[in-house]
Amino acid sequence: MDKFSFYLVTDTHYFDNSYKRSGEAYERRSRTDQKCVAETPAIIDAGFAQLAKDKETDVILIPGDLIYRGEYQSHVGFRERLYRLKEQGKRIYLITARHDYDSGDSFEFEGDKMIPVKGMPREELREFYKDFGFDEAISEHKKTMSYVIQLTHGIRLLALNCDGDLKNFKGIFDDQLEWALNEVKKAHDSGNYIFAMTHYPLLPFSPIMNLVGDAHLTDWEKVATALADAGVDLIFTGHMHAQSVTEYKTENGNTITDVQTGCFVGCPCAYRKITFEDRNTVNIKSYTINDFDYDKGGRTAQEYFKWRFDRMIEVKMHEILPKPAMKAVDKLTVKKIGRLLCFKPDKSVENRLAKDVGIELVRNIFMGDEPYIKGTPMYETMSKMLKRLHPITHIIEKKVKNKNPILADLDTFILSMIGDENQRDNNAVLKINKNNY
Ligand SMILES: [Fe+2]
Ligand SMILES: [Fe+2]
Repeated sequence: MDKFSFYLVTDTHYFDNSYKRSGEAYERRSRTDQKCVAETPAIIDAGFAQLAKDKETDVILIPGDLIYRGEYQSHVGFRERLYRLKEQGKRIYLITARHDYDSGDSFEFEGDKMIPVKGMPREELREFYKDFGFDEAISEHKKTMSYVIQLTHGIRLLALNCDGDLKNFKGIFDDQLEWALNEVKKAHDSGNYIFAMTHYPLLPFSPIMNLVGDAHLTDWEKVATALADAGVDLIFTGHMHAQSVTEYKTENGNTITDVQTGCFVGCPCAYRKITFEDRNTVNIKSYTINDFDYDKGGRTAQEYFKWRFDRMIEVKMHEILPKPAMKAVDKLTVKKIGRLLCFKPDKSVENRLAKDVGIELVRNIFMGDEPYIKGTPMYETMSKMLKRLHPITHIIEKKVKNKNPILADLDTFILSMIGDENQRDNNAVLKINKNNY
C-alpha cells in the first residue's frame, strides 16, 4: 500500500458574510463563545488557502458543525468555499451535525435584536452536500446520512452521522451500528483497512469529560467496544473543540484510538494532517491558521484566539459566582491561597492570580498536551493545596463515589487533568493494524 495522507478540519461554524453581525445582541452571544463567529469568513478563507497550498494531499475530511446555527445562507456560502477547494484539486468528504440544520435557532444580529433568518431543513442536507461524499459513497445508510468511501487503494472511510434522535440521544442507532459493522466486515474481506469518523467524540477525552454528557457519544462504551472488536482501531471526531488523542481497550484486548480535533475558528484553532506512512504507522501532525484578515486589535491570530477563549471562561465565572465572591477571587493570588491553607507554593507560581491559573488550566485541557505533570512547580503546588483541602474533599468523595466512581479519589482526578504524561494530543505516531487486511 502506498503512502496516503489527508487533512482533518472540523467545527468550521461558518456564518455567512451576508448576515448582520454587530451590536449588543451579537456581543452577548460572542462573549461566552469559544468560536469567533463574525470572523469565520476571514478565518476559513485563510485556513482553506493554507490547505490548498499543499499539492501532495488531496483529501479533506470534515466531521460536522459546518456552519454556525442552521442558517441556510451560511450553507450556501460554505459550500461555495468547498467548491473552490474542489476546483483546486481537493476531494472533500463531510458529515453534518447538530449545528447544521434548522432548530429554530437561526438568527442574524443587529443592535440589540436577533432577527430570524431562513434555516436549512435537515432532510435537504444530503442533496445539498451530495458532491462532498454522499454521491461517491460505495454504501450509504440513508436514514442517518452515513456512508462509506473508498479513499484510496486499500483504505476506506466509515463516515457515521451521530445526530441520533435530534434530542438527548447523540449516538449510533442499533440498525446504523449493524450496517456499520457489516461495512467493516466487507472492507476487511476485500482487503481494505477502514477507519471511522463521527462528530461527537467516541471517548471522554479528559477525566472530567466522563461527567459531561455532551462530551461524547451517548452510548460511547457500546459503540467503542463494537467498533474496536470488529477491527476498527482509529476514529476521527470533533464537537468539543479540543485537541486530544485518547485510547480505549475492550475486554477482548482490542484498542481504538479517538483523534479529536479542535475547532477551526476558535482556540485551539487547529487542523490535522494524517499520514499513513506504512502498513502499521499513522503519523498525526497538528497545524494552526497562521493569520487571517480581520481587525484583531494588534494581536496575532494565536493571541486573538487565546484572548477570546480566556474571555469566555472569565465571563462564565462571573455568571456563576456571586459578585462579592468574584471580587475576592479577582485579587486572590496563589501565595494568598497558600497562606490561607498553610502551605508554601513554589516561588515561580506564587504571584500568579488564582483566576488566571484557573483559566489557563481549563484552556490547557482544550489545547491538549496539558503541561503540568509530576515534578513541575504547578503540579507540586496544586498537590500541596489538595493535601491541605483533604478534610473537605474527603467528605465530597464519600458522598459522590457511588454515583461517580471516577470521583472516589479527587486529588488524583484533579491532578490528572492538569498534566498529561502521554503528550501526544497534538502530534502523535500511532501503531495501527493494517497487516491483516
Ligand atoms: Fe462545534
Ligand atoms: Fe457539535
